[in-house]
Amino acid sequence: ALAAPAPASHRTQDRRAVTTADAVDAPEDGFRSAPDSDPSLPANQAWAAGIRERARSSRLGVDLVEVATLREAAELDATIEAAIEANAAWRALSGDERAAILHRAGRELEARRAELMEVAAAEAGKTLDQSDPEVSEAIDFAHYYAERARDLDRVDGAVAVPSRLIAVTPPWNFPIAIPAGSTLAALASGASVIVKPARATARTGAVMLDALWAAGVPREVLHFVQFADRGLGDRLIGDARVDRVILTGGFETAQAFRRIRPDLDLLAETSGKNAIIVTPSADFDLAAKDIVASAFGHAGQKCSAASLAILVGQAGRSKRLHSQIVDGVRSLDVGYPWDADSQMGPIIAPAEGKLLEGLTTLGPGESWIVEPKQLDDSGKLWSPGLRAGVQRGSEYHRTEYFGPILGIMRVETLEEAIELVNDVDYGLTSGIHSLDPDEIGLWLETVQAGNLYVNRGITGAIVERQPFGGWKRSVVGPTTKAGGPSYLFPLVDWRSAEARA
Ligand code: ALA
Repeated sequence: ALAAPAPASHRTQDRRAVTTADAVDAPEDGFRSAPDSDPSLPANQAWAAGIRERARSSRLGVDLVEVATLREAAELDATIEAAIEANAAWRALSGDERAAILHRAGRELEARRAELMEVAAAEAGKTLDQSDPEVSEAIDFAHYYAERARDLDRVDGAVAVPSRLIAVTPPWNFPIAIPAGSTLAALASGASVIVKPARATARTGAVMLDALWAAGVPREVLHFVQFADRGLGDRLIGDARVDRVILTGGFETAQAFRRIRPDLDLLAETSGKNAIIVTPSADFDLAAKDIVASAFGHAGQKCSAASLAILVGQAGRSKRLHSQIVDGVRSLDVGYPWDADSQMGPIIAPAEGKLLEGLTTLGPGESWIVEPKQLDDSGKLWSPGLRAGVQRGSEYHRTEYFGPILGIMRVETLEEAIELVNDVDYGLTSGIHSLDPDEIGLWLETVQAGNLYVNRGITGAIVERQPFGGWKRSVVGPTTKAGGPSYLFPLVDWRSAEARA
């Protein structure tokens, strides 16, 4: 048996499950799963080693995906029908009753922390330092949206009328937390749900959904699907029986959904091109650390990732800051998650298209400070890239590459830096490192992004504390905040009624 779990409050990413009181039974391997299970802590190392070893040849979720794969339009029709039929009973539950099931879902997810980390490593190449907080986020979503289900019953003057059916189409980059969050929100709102996780991480999605079924969400209410034929995906989005779609993915995917169905009620969290500004007043040590972590966590494959560091005035001329960033990038150990030393894992698929271009070509005035290198034949393992001399309005300045590349821009004033941040189509996350309250105040007032972070990294939004969602092209549909108080509101229709006495 392993030692007791590590004490709480040591999470590397300052993440804490909302409800730490929900103790769970020890899983079979003897580890008592805690919300603060930083795998690097000594007490957890054997636990983490077990996950890594199993991940190498993990088959978790394979059977579930096989069963869930639809091949014919008639199968999809039957799934939609079943979900709608089952909705009558689900929507009839009170907010309290749905909340009880969702809180149980949180505990089920907690009990499967190791399994979820195993399958995310196997499928998505997620290193454990990345997947552990992702499981915590999924648990947080369960407990948080459970309480928001109760809120829906308490709105004065209006009654929430649930959607009958919501389709959820999550991405591969957060294969646990994003499918969990969107699905739990839709369930909390009283809808039946069809979830179609990204193909690349379907097994992780399946293991996550299995926890929700085990918690008591009826299988007729919550459907997991994959499509053997791409046309079925278009058919699902285009089907008028689907009241709403929750998408997390690229801006182009949101546009494609709109083309399929122009009147679609779509809630989409999309792309980002995010920067961290460093001013001369900043703590450079902290800034360098946060820039590297925000740029290269999960190999930069986060809509929230920093892909620009904008250094202002003396910060741009500081040899110390420069060499700390360069050393931070150079020292990242790149490898697969089953190797204990890996700090940055592979990208999801062999680099191609825009990402390959970003990893291999430079724009006018740019140079590599650290040139990315393909490390093996898979095409998926790349060392991180650091480019200098990024010019305003250039391809690199404005394009989301979704991979392990960071560009440096230099300007003389904070105002110029803010202009560069705002001069992109997206507005998701943004950061500043500064110890000057006036600088911070100016930045907070003028920067165009939904999630702002001062003197910390810009990824890993915490449920309830940092409700997540952007501006501009980072959102399609209503401006929503996942993990925020009103996230469920646009998932229902509101009705007020009065009869003459
Ligand atoms: N919610 C994720 C983050 O904040 C995307 O990094």
